[in-house]
Amino acid sequence: MSTENSIELPEGITTVTQNGLTAYRVQTSLGSGLVYEHGAHVAEWQPAGQDPVLWMSDSSDYADDKPLRGGIPICFPWFGPGRDGQHEPGHGFARLADWKLVQAEVSESGQAHLALELTGDQVADLAGFPSDFTARLDVAMGTILGLEFTVTAGGQQLDYEAALHTYFDVADIEQTMVEGLDGARYLDKVGGGEAQQEGAVNFTMETDRVYFSDSTTRIVDAARGRTLVVEKSNSANTVVWNPWVDKAARMPDFGDREWPAMCCVETVNALDNAVFLQPGESHTMGTAISIA
Ligand code: BG6
Repeated sequence: MSTENSIELPEGITTVTQNGLTAYRVQTSLGSGLVYEHGAHVAEWQPAGQDPVLWMSDSSDYADDKPLRGGIPICFPWFGPGRDGQHEPGHGFARLADWKLVQAEVSESGQAHLALELTGDQVADLAGFPSDFTARLDVAMGTILGLEFTVTAGGQQLDYEAALHTYFDVADIEQTMVEGLDGARYLDKVGGGEAQQEGAVNFTMETDRVYFSDSTTRIVDAARGRTLVVEKSNSANTVVWNPWVDKAARMPDFGDREWPAMCCVETVNALDNAVFLQPGESHTMGTAISIA
């Protein structure tokens, strides 16, 4: 079967219309998953015999001009409102744009590989960002979920922030902890100011922190009896987020009672760790998610 892009889809990857949007469904001996063209958004990943690893909100929008809530939104070319606090749309335009499938393969062992690309001419409003860039997401889906986000500058310099804003499914946030950030400095977006992490991150209230750390983290989901491992490459920040009661209630695309079932542990380059590229240069930030 071939798609609009004339990419031949191998056995194990099919194109579907899901919630009104074009997506690619992966189903192999190693597990299943779903990747939308809208935002190059990985919305599902479930290794064979395991519970789903990614969380999606039942209240998510599925519309051309809105981001999806859950899964792995790509934040680019700025994080949140950007370094000056003025940028719109929040978390950049990449999660609102329709990306193009450029590669789809399944190995003999059942590992799927999809690559999607976004260039400036596919974006309705670049909000002042140079149009001469290529962004590419490589997704490897098998017993491990590997993501590589590569940006290549064209004829102009680029200066950008980026995040693989991963929403993890946990059985109970109050019995979940994130290990691997002990000793790291962080910006506390709830309480304000900077602090230093002591021990594991526990969740007892709204939590929204930008850690200065390139370390591997482990999400210990005690209520489910599962630990997820989040490895990173070329990422100097990890953002940890749970909106808790009040912020969840304020977000129209987030169910009021959904917050106990998720936590975000995001692979990020933001603030002073923004990426600066000379014309023609590339940068790849990656993450590999596995079940311990
Ligand atoms: C996190 C930010 O990465 O994303 C939070 O640190 C923000 O401040 C959250 O609330 C969700 O953002 P959005 O734009 O998807 O609602």
